[in-house]
This record gives sequence, C-alpha cells and structure tokens, in this order.
Amino acid sequence: MLIKFFVSFLGLALLASCNAGKNQTNIELVQNMMDQESIKAQDWDPKQPGKAMMLTPPKGTVPQGFKPYPFKGDPIKAQENLKNPLAGNFSPEVLTLGKENYQIYCSVCHGQGGLGDGTVAPKMAVKPPSLMTDKIKNYNDGRIFHIITDGQGVMMSYASEIKSDKTRWAIVNYVRTLQKGAQ
Ligand code: HEC
Repeated sequence: MLIKFFVSFLGLALLASCNAGKNQTNIELVQNMMDQESIKAQDWDPKQPGKAMMLTPPKGTVPQGFKPYPFKGDPIKAQENLKNPLAGNFSPEVLTLGKENYQIYCSVCHGQGGLGDGTVAPKMAVKPPSLMTDKIKNYNDGRIFHIITDGQGVMMSYASEIKSDKTRWAIVNYVRTLQKGAQ
C-alpha cells in the first residue's frame, strides 16, 4: 500500500515537473525569489515601449580609472601641448614595447616597415598612408601620439586598445626608429 502510494506520488511529481515553460524552473519550492521584476540588460522596458531596460548613465559618468583626454578633436592643441616623456629614450626596453605594440595594432594597415603596405591595405577604400613621408617625419611626437589616441579621419582611436600612455609614446619612438631606417 505504502509502496503504491509512493510510486504514484513519484509519477505525479515527474509529470508536474515537465513543461513548466522555457524560462521557468520546473519545481518551485520557495517562490518569492522567482517571480520578481528583475531587469535583463538586453530586454525592452514594457512600460516604455521601444526603450531598452539598460539605463543610460547620467551625464558626465566615467568608468573607473578613466582619464579624460583634453585634446579630443584638436590635433593642433595636442601637438603644441603634449610632451613626449620618453623623448630621446631609444632603450631596448622602450623600443621592444613600441615594436611589439606597433606590430599588433598598426602594421596590419601601415605595414611592418611603416610604408602603408599592410596586409589589409589593398582592401581599404581609403589607403593607410605611409608613415615614412616627410609630412610624418615633420610631425612632432605629440601629433603622432594624438593620432594614436584620438584617431584621424577614417582611422579610429586606439586609446581603448592601447590603454597605457607609455605604450603609445613607445610606439611613437618606434615609428621614429623606422623613419631613421634603424630597424
Ligand atoms: C585599420 C587600419 C589602420 C590601423 C590599424 C592604423 N591606422 Fe593609422 N591610418 C589609417 C588610415 C586609413 C589613415 C588615414 C586617415 C585619414 O586621414 O583619413 C591613417 C593615418 C595615420 C597617420 C597620419 C598619416 C598622415 O599622413 O596623415 C598616422 C601618424 C598613423 N595613422 C599612425 C598609426 C599608428 C601609430 C597606428 C597604430 C597604433 C595606426 N596608425 C593604426 C589606417 C590605420
């Protein structure tokens, strides 16, 4: 008798546990944590049709550790004010850092030797210019740092990829050695 009761109870429990729906746990013992109005980042807000659940941060909010770049969109001010903290430092440490990052981030377009002949260059509508021109040789370090940090024309900013200022300056120094034909 007891066994029969137990088996039928088990059968019922099994049946009940099927098909609770895609986003629901089958057996809910304690329910008050499950039926709640939690927000999913990628959802729509039903109370405001067409609006994403994810809230826009208040104006002026910055991520932790974020340093605002004062010369955004202003290459002239950048070239007048930025000073290369690694000026004249062509030590193996700096050049290795610069070379490594140049090869990761720049060479696909501007080429290993900076001649504008990177592997993706033939597929680009606006060709990446050579960095070995007199124009770029005459740009000061700050101007090149600015282009890496803020982008120029169709070239995007690399500030979020190359986060450290030191690394960006090291790339500038490495470009200088390429221009001198030293590497
Ligand atoms: C996706 C391809 C691409 C990558 C990667 C790239 N660039 Fe560029 N770069 C360009 C293009 C295209 C231009 C020309 C943009 C314009 O003026 O519209 C340019 C312009 C420049 C210029 C100015 C050249 C001139 O004659 O005005 C410099 C300097 C430069 N890039 C340096 C770099 C450095 C350093 C890196 C690596 C951190 C880099 N670029 C990564 C495509 C790229």
